[in-house]
Amino acid sequence: MGTNETSSRAPRRALVSGASSGIGAATVRALCARGYEVVAIARREDRLASLAQETGCTTMVCDVTNEHDVEAVRAYLAKRGSLDILVANAGGAIGADPVGEGDPRDWSAMFELNVIGTQRLIRAMLPLLRHGALEHQVADIVSLSSTAAFVSYEGGGGYNAAKAGVHAMLGALRLELAGEPIRVVEIAPGMVHTEEFALNRFAGDEAKRDALYEGVEAPLVADDVADVIVYAVGCPAHVNLDLVQMRPVAQAAQHKLHRGPLRPKL
Ligand SMILES: NC(=O)c1ccc[n+]([C@@H]2O[C@H](COP(=O)([O-])OP(=O)(O)OC[C@H]3O[C@@H](n4cnc5c(N)ncnc54)[C@H](OP(=O)(O)O)[C@@H]3O)[C@@H](O)[C@H]2O)c1
Repeated sequence: MGTNETSSRAPRRALVSGASSGIGAATVRALCARGYEVVAIARREDRLASLAQETGCTTMVCDVTNEHDVEAVRAYLAKRGSLDILVANAGGAIGADPVGEGDPRDWSAMFELNVIGTQRLIRAMLPLLRHGALEHQVADIVSLSSTAAFVSYEGGGGYNAAKAGVHAMLGALRLELAGEPIRVVEIAPGMVHTEEFALNRFAGDEAKRDALYEGVEAPLVADDVADVIVYAVGCPAHVNLDLVQMRPVAQAAQHKLHRGPLRPKL
């Protein structure tokens, strides 16, 4: 039995960060479609407003690198009860410079967003999640790392380090929460073709973005990752998918990406 879909209790409540595009928006859609109550946060209000209209989610503008914004979300949620699921998805890469040339300010920004932004959300929401766990048997902290956390690649140094930082932090958190009914789920995708990830990485350079995905017949899309997140939080309360690495079939490893059609060798 899943923890949400067949329950006769109040729907489980989820907070999704980075909800204005890509994996976050897809996760909000998928959770809302399955009856979860969702609060979606990101910085761009107009995009959140469209998502709210489409899905019925509640939205709040929040920059996860800003303590006051995160505290305002916590206070909003606390007024309305507990929280059952945190999807700490806001993140991304800035630049693809070699270690010897990268701008330390870009590296700081990646750490601030991916590592500290995630920690800030977890720290703020943990007390609410504990109440959620009491009410619904289990609570979930789902966080997006990346296959980049595990395998370095040229030009990936800052993002590799930031996502490895996310992975390390989640490992510590899972140990610290041992004995509590709170699952820590790390989702580590490989190539996901989302609208903005590569554009943000390459400072809006569409040619670089297109080159990245060129010829890849079927990269993962945001809905693929959202499906896994929804599956993870819907598992029976005693089951923890603690680390899910997922890639498109065309990407056998970080450095082994097949461009062109996939065909059996007959
Ligand atoms: N796409 C991939 O290939 C891939 C692979 C592995 C892992 N991931 C990870 O998966 C997550 C989602 O990726 P995606 O492809 O969906 O990226 P995306 O389309 O670029 O979306 C990133 C989201 O994060 C939000 N965001 C960025 N900075 C923020 C901040 N300071 N405060 C609050 N929200 C912020 C953005 O919204 P606003 O600009 O409106 O704030 C946006 O909604 C990221 O953690 C990424 O590192 C992606």
